[in-house]
Amino acid sequence: MKKEKILVVGNWKMNPETANKAKEIFRGIKAETKDLKNTKIVVCPPFVYLSDLEKMNDGSVILGAQDMFWEKSGPFTGEISAQMLEKEGYVILGHSERRGLGETDEMVSKKVISAIKAHLHPILCLGEKIRDEHGEYLHFLRNQIINSLGKLPKTYLSKLVIAYEPIWAIGQAEAMKPADIHETSLFIKKVLAEIYKQKTILSIPVLYGGSVSADNAKEIITLGEVQGLLVGRESLAPKKFGELLKAVEIL
Ligand code: PGA
Repeated sequence: MKKEKILVVGNWKMNPETANKAKEIFRGIKAETKDLKNTKIVVCPPFVYLSDLEKMNDGSVILGAQDMFWEKSGPFTGEISAQMLEKEGYVILGHSERRGLGETDEMVSKKVISAIKAHLHPILCLGEKIRDEHGEYLHFLRNQIINSLGKLPKTYLSKLVIAYEPIWAIGQAEAMKPADIHETSLFIKKVLAEIYKQKTILSIPVLYGGSVSADNAKEIITLGEVQGLLVGRESLAPKKFGELLKAVEIL
């Protein structure tokens, strides 16, 4: 059976401040990634840099978006539709920083469905704010999964990617422990299996995000048993991102 590539997604968030700097970072990432064969690399810059970076791209890196709206077109000031993005591309949806600005599970589910209808791969972000001793976070996660998928039909699952990002582990010095990542990714798959059938959910990649670096990437993949990573800060530093990708590439 063909081994699936590890998926590493760089989320640039609202960085860098200029288009020139964005091009410089992207050039650096491309130089670091040109010999990689076992890793699928997606970089999600702010919307306004996408077309400039697309012109520089030779296909070694896939460009993705950080959000989109569920309608195709119309009076939605400031929004961008799935149809305006590259077909077969990736789009991060429901990131905790967007949820923190008021995005609800229901809105996220509409976005996920619209993205797949428009032939995109949504990277659905999930994650609890805190971990309590009584396991309340598991109820929270379960509800978030169910409500963020909404009425997503089973036939759409082949395009879905899940990113588990515990909010408390984002932007920190250390990531979550691999054993806990493993346990939570199994829990996510269990909930998916409750909603859909066991077989269909096996192919859904579950990524981990939250303070991933070149130092911890390998053990998160091997011990955490996830199918990829969602990387914030380190994806803006080509050398460090390159090291991270190389650590994952040789697994
Ligand atoms: P971080 O961000 O890698 O800087 O912790 C991850 C994310 O928010 O996607």
